[in-house]
Amino acid sequence: MDLNQFCKTVGRLVADNPVQNVPALIADYLPEILGDRDLLSAEHKALPPEGYGRHDVFLCPNDDFSIIAAVWPAGIVSPIHDHKTWCTFGVFEGVIQETLYRAVSDDPSCTDAVPVEMIEHLPGDVAHLPVGGGDIHCMHNPTDKAAVSVHVYGGNSVKLGPNVVKVYQETAAAIA
Ligand SMILES: [Fe+2]
Repeated sequence: MDLNQFCKTVGRLVADNPVQNVPALIADYLPEILGDRDLLSAEHKALPPEGYGRHDVFLCPNDDFSIIAAVWPAGIVSPIHDHKTWCTFGVFEGVIQETLYRAVSDDPSCTDAVPVEMIEHLPGDVAHLPVGGGDIHCMHNPTDKAAVSVHVYGGNSVKLGPNVVKVYQETAAAIA
């Protein structure tokens, strides 16, 4: 499956399924393009001057979904964050340690979260987040080499900007 076929498949999955099912369905297909060493150009894998890098790979003309490459410098830790829209991602190269969090209360103003699970993602591994809540996580590159992940997001990633609603802080509670 090449990028063109993958995009057609994602478009069909988005059109034919309830949105809450879409990230898991895309996760079945994402490994097929992650193994293609020609998927990303040198520009897509370029290290950012600071923070993490974000490069558009494909924007669906209907604004149904976007594919971006994220570049994670050695050692970087993202803020703990939730999301504006659904997300399926996979590792193209390197290692990403993802920690999932739970907000300590349902209050919309709550920005305290406790870690519930840590997952180490290797090249070819994919993950997705629940839609409409329960989607708080942190991304960490624990190695001394850059890592690159490929993200499929609902909507137009240029119009939406960073896929973050809120930034959380970790509370002292133990992992549940
Ligand atoms: Fe995220």
